[in-house]
Amino acid sequence: MHTRRAPLRAKKKSAAAHVPELIFGDLWEFDPAPETADPRLRDQYDLFIGGTFVPPRSGRYFETVNPATEKVIASVALAGPDDVDAAFAAAQKAFEGPWRKMPGKERGKYIYRIARLIQERAREFAVVETMDGGKPIKESRDFDVPMAAAHFFYHAGWADKIEYALPGCRVEPLGPVGQVIPWNFPLLMLAWKIAPALAMGNTIVLKPAETTPLTALKLGELLREAELPHGVVNFVTGAGDTGAAVMGHPAAKKIAFTGSTEVGKIIMRQTAGTDKKMTMELGGKAANIVFDDAPIDQAVEGVVNGIFFNQGHVCCAGSRLLVQESIAELFVEKLKRRIDVLRVGNPLDKNTDVGAINSRMQLEKIEELVESGVAQGATIYQPSCRLPGRGFFYRPTIFTAVTQSHRIACEEIFGPVLSVLTFRTLEEAVEKANNTAFGLSAGVWTDKGSRILKMSTLLKAGVVWANTFNKFDPSSPFGGYKESGFGREGGRHGLLDYAKVV
Ligand code: NAI
Ligand code: MG
Repeated sequence: MHTRRAPLRAKKKSAAAHVPELIFGDLWEFDPAPETADPRLRDQYDLFIGGTFVPPRSGRYFETVNPATEKVIASVALAGPDDVDAAFAAAQKAFEGPWRKMPGKERGKYIYRIARLIQERAREFAVVETMDGGKPIKESRDFDVPMAAAHFFYHAGWADKIEYALPGCRVEPLGPVGQVIPWNFPLLMLAWKIAPALAMGNTIVLKPAETTPLTALKLGELLREAELPHGVVNFVTGAGDTGAAVMGHPAAKKIAFTGSTEVGKIIMRQTAGTDKKMTMELGGKAANIVFDDAPIDQAVEGVVNGIFFNQGHVCCAGSRLLVQESIAELFVEKLKRRIDVLRVGNPLDKNTDVGAINSRMQLEKIEELVESGVAQGATIYQPSCRLPGRGFFYRPTIFTAVTQSHRIACEEIFGPVLSVLTFRTLEEAVEKANNTAFGLSAGVWTDKGSRILKMSTLLKAGVVWANTFNKFDPSSPFGGYKESGFGREGGRHGLLDYAKVV
């Protein structure tokens, strides 16, 4: 697939006139460079319970499609309440059997083995992740899969050092835990959930998202290869009803959810009054704040990465650009030229920058919010790149003249749509950045170290990146404030969410 550089719209005589013309967009057409590794997929997948694949007691299956082609990839078992019961029974048995009693050193060996097997089969996992969810292969290959392996490596190292996690206290595993994950980083979110739970000695029932169940099921195959004791990890596939059965299950000592704030609230209501331990990683509307002393071209790249990475299906996406007024015009002009040359298209092509939107439902949500932006008076800019004829695709979009009350400035769009606002002073930037129901992440671009430190204390966000964006490390805790949720994943903090002090 190719994207063509679109002619700039509404060229104004202004500071932007100093921007040198880009020359490469018009000249270069890339040949297709598809990833060809065999994904080694089956046509049908059963539930992964008790260390084997078992047909669903519900007798039902659903289809998962490739959002770039709209073709069915495989049919997948739909777990009903009886299946979720069976999965928790297997998890309970494994907890009381080999897993809880196993020395941390031995448990760690299994987790190392999982990490190494993911590395060995990285290419295959990357292709499946891209086919099932629509993300560009260069992201699944260079980010999702290596980061998933890194999470298992990191937590394998903790397994025999648990006594140092909370010095002076004795910590113990909780028992079976229930986990529900979303579709934006299927394998990586699975790793974030499973690795710390395993390191602490818990057993697991996890439900992947209904549009992206395949990497979890392939991981089930890998866990068999790793000879993980049966029942330590169980995967039940299905949609919201299956998720609700996992979250509400009486045997789940702890529940962990990543997804929309709306569903997070439903789960909170469902489990109110129970003694389940709980972590919630929900939505975001992060501000990416650019001061006038920032290195502008690097900041443009950072803003592009912040919102167009993974089609903007990122809870911590930098979806609100706050740019200092004195450089706003120049910055936005550079940004437009940059998105003119983003390559939107076949996710399996190694040159693709922006892949497919995860589902038709998500595409419709993005379209609806973009229409609201236009209707409420913001100014839209989209490059006129060619989109594939089939599949769910959306053009990278920038809105200027956005006010804080516009829906596109308040609501999580979860798509490749950036809302641009301006500020004059640091205080105004902080006030606008914090003027949101969310509080997951923020970015600051400036030359001044002291300003970075000041901003990081004033911004009400779980993660604040400085002169970079979307950087992750398994040792660094991640999580939010306010409607972005509570609890942390990663690092020592994340580990302790899977343990009790005795
Ligand atoms: P969702 O929150 O419905 O889905 C996430 C997971 O929760 C899926 O596995 C789903 O099957 C499960 N689920 C749904 N209803 C459930 C229930 N009642 N109990 C337990 N589990 C349940 O997200 P959806 O509908 O796919 O996307 C809607 C919007 O949510 C997106 O447009 C985006 O704005 C936001 N979202 C945010 C995410 C984040 O990481 N911040 C991730 C996914 C979606
Ligand atoms: Mg799919």
